Parts: sequence; structure tokens; C-alpha cells
Amino acid sequence: MVKDKKERILQKMFMAKIKQKKQKIITPTLFDTSKKKKNHEFTFIDLFAGVGGTRLGFERAGGECVFTSEWDSSCQKTYQANFGELPYGDITKIKETEIPAFDILIAGFPCQPFSSIGKRQGFMHATQGTLFYDVLRIIKGKKNKAFLLENVGGLVTHDKGNTFKTILEALDKVGYKVFYKILNAANYGVPQHRKRIYIVGFRRDLFKDENIEFEFPEGTNNKDYINKYLEKDVKGYSISTHLQKNYLFKKKDGRPIIVDKNSKFQIKTLVSSYHKIQRLTGTFVKDGETGLRLLTEKECKAIMGFPKNFIIPVSRTQMYRQMGNSVVVPVIEAVAKQMVKTLSKIKK
Ligand SMILES: C[S@@+](CC[C@H](N)C(=O)[O-])C[C@H]1O[C@@H](n2cnc3c(N)ncnc32)[C@H](O)[C@@H]1O
Repeated sequence: MVKDKKERILQKMFMAKIKQKKQKIITPTLFDTSKKKKNHEFTFIDLFAGVGGTRLGFERAGGECVFTSEWDSSCQKTYQANFGELPYGDITKIKETEIPAFDILIAGFPCQPFSSIGKRQGFMHATQGTLFYDVLRIIKGKKNKAFLLENVGGLVTHDKGNTFKTILEALDKVGYKVFYKILNAANYGVPQHRKRIYIVGFRRDLFKDENIEFEFPEGTNNKDYINKYLEKDVKGYSISTHLQKNYLFKKKDGRPIIVDKNSKFQIKTLVSSYHKIQRLTGTFVKDGETGLRLLTEKECKAIMGFPKNFIIPVSRTQMYRQMGNSVVVPVIEAVAKQMVKTLSKIKK
């Protein structure tokens, strides 16, 4: 009861600050922990939440989300449509003290500064490079039991490995034992190759003799292929014959992958700029009014392991951006379940 009151006061102060700065006012539902289910196994916060793929995975592992941050208004719209809660905005403006207590921090901090398709400015990127330090600030301030950070595989090799080394050392220094591995979503029951680095940490002092064991999930032997998910006679996603002739198949370097009902394989990574017609890596479907079309919303959801009933209330361009930026839900779920096993070993 006392805790609820304190949270309400903090929430009021936070909202007043937002009003003062004339920022967009957002619904303060996420601090209201009284409305939350009581039978959860652990609580978590969802940072750089996107549309909530990580939240879906952690909820499936028994978690309860108590705070979310995502500043993109289009992602916020999708998030709210599915979870009934509008995320808080810019994480750099949120103090640790304004965030309620929680067990696990989850952050898929922006990967553009480290991605091979970006300029790879890393920590030097003016606005996105230092967001890891906001994550660190929150971990340091909240002393949560564990965390999961997710990013592109390129993070490991960025700046000859120095960026990754800095991240690992910083996490170690604030008292966490860190485990990391690159996992490919293709091994977790989706028809897409998507390699991402998963960095998992546990607070050392919570474990007897600081003895912490954690195993990344094995994955499944059952491969899932794209042909199973392709819709038939789709209208409205067609690529014009002009675009096909003058762009997609024009240059020698164009290597789009064309799939149809016989394509018994896993496609390449869905990128957030897919709608801009990725000549080099894009996957297109032999179907539709012009004989070739883009992947549909249903197909994108299947590729990312989202449930069929996941609502995407935004434009098609935003849908591709949101799905291409997201995590693959079954991978997150598998990692989350392994984390729960380790957390169960915390000394009483
Ligand atoms: C790589 S995406 C993560 C997507 C998410 N894991 C998902 O499953 O949809 C990074 C997200 O961080 C958000 N972001 C970037 N800077 C932010 C900031 N300062 N505060 C809050 N969100 C931010 C972006 O809008 C983007 O949606």
C-alpha cells in the first residue's frame, strides 16, 4: 500500500515534468502495479521496446512487465494496441528513481551504430551510440537480479572488438556475471535466418559463492520453411513491372530471392528497410497482380514468430519497419526460460 502511494507520487512528478517540457503526454498506466497479475514468477522492464516482441517472450516465461520505454510514436501505437499500455518515451530523460523495482531488465538497444548496414560509428554516434550507458545507469541504480541485452552480431566485431569489450567490462564492474552468444532464429522454429547477440547477466552477490550457471537454449531440430507461410492470390502488395525491370533485376549485383510454394528453405534476415525494395537481400514472392509481390503482414509476423492475432494498426511502411526492427519472439522466450532456471538458484 505504502509502495503504491510512493509510486503514484513518483508518477505524478514524472508527468508534471513531461508537461513542463511540452513533450507528448502519455498514459501513465505502467506504474500502476496494483492492476497487475499477482501470480507472476518475476517482474521485468522492457526498454527500447519497439512493438513488444521481447515482452511477449518474457510474458510467456512467466514474467510481468512493470515499465516500458519506447519513444517512437508509431511503435507506441502498436504497443498500446496489443498490451493496452502506452510506453514512456525517451529513456535518457527517465531517472532510475522514476522506474519501479523489477527483477529483469530487457534492452534491445538500437543497433544502427553497430550494424554492418549502418556507418558503424558505435559509441561515437551522436544520439544512439551512448544509449548503452543509459542501460548501465539503470542497472547500477536498480541493482536488478538479471538482464538481457540484445543487439546485432556486428556488435562483437565493432571497432576491432573494443566496443564489445567495453560493454562486457562495464557490466562486470557493476557486479554482474555475463554470458553471451550469437543465436540464429532459424534454429528456433521460424523460417528466417536472423543472427543476434544475446548478452545475459546475473548479479553475482545473489548467488551462493557467486557460483552462477547459465546455458543458452539449444534450439530445435525442426526447421520451419517459408513455403508453409505464403499466402495465395494476394492483392495490393504487388511490385510494378516497371520497378521489377528497372530496379530489382536491372544490375548484376541484384540478387533478390524469389520464393513460391516450393521454397523449402529459410529466408534471409528481414530488414527494417524491406519496403524500400532491397535489391541485394530482399525476399519477394512469385504471386499477385504483376507476378511478384512483397511479403504480406501475415507473412512478416510468421517470419518474426509473432502470434497471428498480433495487431499492427499502422501504415504498411511502418509495419515493415517495426517487424524488421523487432526480435524473434520464440528466441526471446527460449532465452527467458533459461534465465528463469538460473534465477531459481538464487540463495534464499
Ligand atoms: C532495435 S529496436 C528494438 C526493437 C524491440 N526489441 C522489438 O522487439 O520490437 C530499438 C528501439 O529503440 C527505440 N529507441 C531509440 N532511442 C530511444 C530512446 N532514447 N528512448 C526510447 N526508445 C528509444 C527505437 O525507436 C527502436 O524502436
